[in-house]
Amino acid sequence: MSWIINTLTSTIGRKVIMALTGLFLILFLTVHLVGNLQLLKNDGGESFNLYTQFMAHNPLIQAVSKGNFFFIFLHVFVSLTLYVRNKKARPIGYKVSSGNSNSSWSSRSMALLGTFILIFIFLHLYGYWFQLKYVGEPIVQMISIDGVSMHNAYALVAESFQIPGVVAFYVIAMIVLGFHLWHGFASAFQSLGLNHPKYNGIISGLGKLYAVIIPVLFMLIPIYMYLNNAG
Ligand code: HEM
Repeated sequence: MSWIINTLTSTIGRKVIMALTGLFLILFLTVHLVGNLQLLKNDGGESFNLYTQFMAHNPLIQAVSKGNFFFIFLHVFVSLTLYVRNKKARPIGYKVSSGNSNSSWSSRSMALLGTFILIFIFLHLYGYWFQLKYVGEPIVQMISIDGVSMHNAYALVAESFQIPGVVAFYVIAMIVLGFHLWHGFASAFQSLGLNHPKYNGIISGLGKLYAVIIPVLFMLIPIYMYLNNAG
């Protein structure tokens, strides 16, 4: 039991938790993106609706989903404790900001970027997940595919992406997510001690590639759906 308390109270232990939860969330994002790319299929939303129906009724996925929410909470909570500890250790901050000399803008702004992403997640969950799971009709229409009645999740998403403000919010949130991932990926490997002079370049390169590709693909979804369904 004492190792759990030691991990939770030491700075390095907390950084390891940040890294592990962060890497899990990176994995979630990849799976979520693959599922969401079905929104781009020109099949009236059938593939996406079958996919969300499967996700909502598979017990294993539902268990992973609970873990997902717990990891988001842990990632945010532990980051807050690290932030508060940092502030207490250096209440008036550095006299001179070192600028780009030893840290990038995205690394110094992780807390700010993370807060924006948290606000995005709250609004995002309210807009889709909450409506599908707890509200239902008449906000969410029902549809029948092959005789099976299910939520028309596609229509819910497509309707929201007809509002330019929603599309703009998603695009901005994805840019912010990109900056957060840009620093987060490499930082996670460092916290886990997985750094080796030979592989550091590859790890940081892969992290940066991921930080660009995933948000760009995510942001293409609202842009494409807006343009495709406009008029
Ligand atoms: C174009 C971008 C996105 C679209 C269209 C989208 C769509 C959706 C939809 C429809 C759901 C509800 C699924 C269901 O309950 O059956 C959902 C859930 C969720 N989304 Fe997204 N999403 C997008 C981007 C993101 C991003 C960037 C994040 C994180 C930063 C995210 C985090 C989540 C989470 C945590 C859930 C709840 C998943 C669960 O039940 O475990 N989404 N999303």
